[in-house]
Amino acid sequence: MLLRPPADIPSSEITPESTYLSRRDFLGRGAGALAAAAALPGVARAMPPQDKDELTPYEDVTTYNNFYEFGTDKADPAENSKGFTTKPWSVVVDGLVKKPFTLQLEDFIKPHKLEDRTYRHRCVEAWSMVIPWQGFPMADFIKRAEPLGSAKYVQFFTLHDPKRMPGQERPILPWPYTEALRLDEAMHPLAMFGTGLYGKTLLPQNGAPLRTITPWKYGFKACKSIVRITFTEKQPLNTWQLTNASEYGFYANVNPEVDHPRWTQSKERRIGEFRRRVTLMFNGYPQVASLYGGMDLHKNF
Ligand code: MTE
Repeated sequence: MLLRPPADIPSSEITPESTYLSRRDFLGRGAGALAAAAALPGVARAMPPQDKDELTPYEDVTTYNNFYEFGTDKADPAENSKGFTTKPWSVVVDGLVKKPFTLQLEDFIKPHKLEDRTYRHRCVEAWSMVIPWQGFPMADFIKRAEPLGSAKYVQFFTLHDPKRMPGQERPILPWPYTEALRLDEAMHPLAMFGTGLYGKTLLPQNGAPLRTITPWKYGFKACKSIVRITFTEKQPLNTWQLTNASEYGFYANVNPEVDHPRWTQSKERRIGEFRRRVTLMFNGYPQVASLYGGMDLHKNF
């Protein structure tokens, strides 16, 4: 598989085990424990500092990317997508819907109220960012699409046009890139379609003009530059499953307990920092846990 382990982290930067354990304990106990501790005189001051989520600089968000249609190195997408135009752009909506339809991008977006939402973004390669996105809830669009009762999944496809996306001239991945969500995951209020970041229209390297954002999942669940959305009854295979099913699953939930076969997922390096942070279950979005009640998340990784 092409995604690489975090080999760039010098061992001197790895958090000492004692700090790691106390921080994990602190984060694991959450806000309830914090409130209880704060009520005891002197205890709050003894607590380790909470990790702060500072925005990742715009420069990093737009020059450190995975978008294999424009090359496999992190700097390639910004460089190789310079002439990529997204006008005109249409999106096909088909599969198990009341009536299939095609929309020009403006009509796709226009009925929705754009929102600003800052989310943590955790890549399976064990780096992370904090990104102020613009977009709208995926649920609002799904209601508009009127999926049939038999629809259980929603699948997304990236543009397939090797003339405009030079990486597609080589069979590095099975093109077009595709990803899918269970319908209830896609309807969760955290799931969005992204159209911008830092108050600006999305740049090609970040998935212009339309991408998915599911912040409790590893970054590879995000489908960039979407041209087709289809509703299915059967669980689709995503691009990385098609490429290497033993290393990449359908769910891709951020889960520090399930290591990637070639490296640990228990820690991450925030881009712009040297130390490693402890990775949180569901990337620190516990509100999605109820989507996976009763599921074995070691098997459904
Ligand atoms: N979508 C397409 N079409 N092609 C890709 O190569 N890479 C995925 C995902 N979506 C990818 C893609 C991976 S591995 C990650 S980590 C995220 O996009 C990166 O998104 P970002 O560049 O906005 O951080």
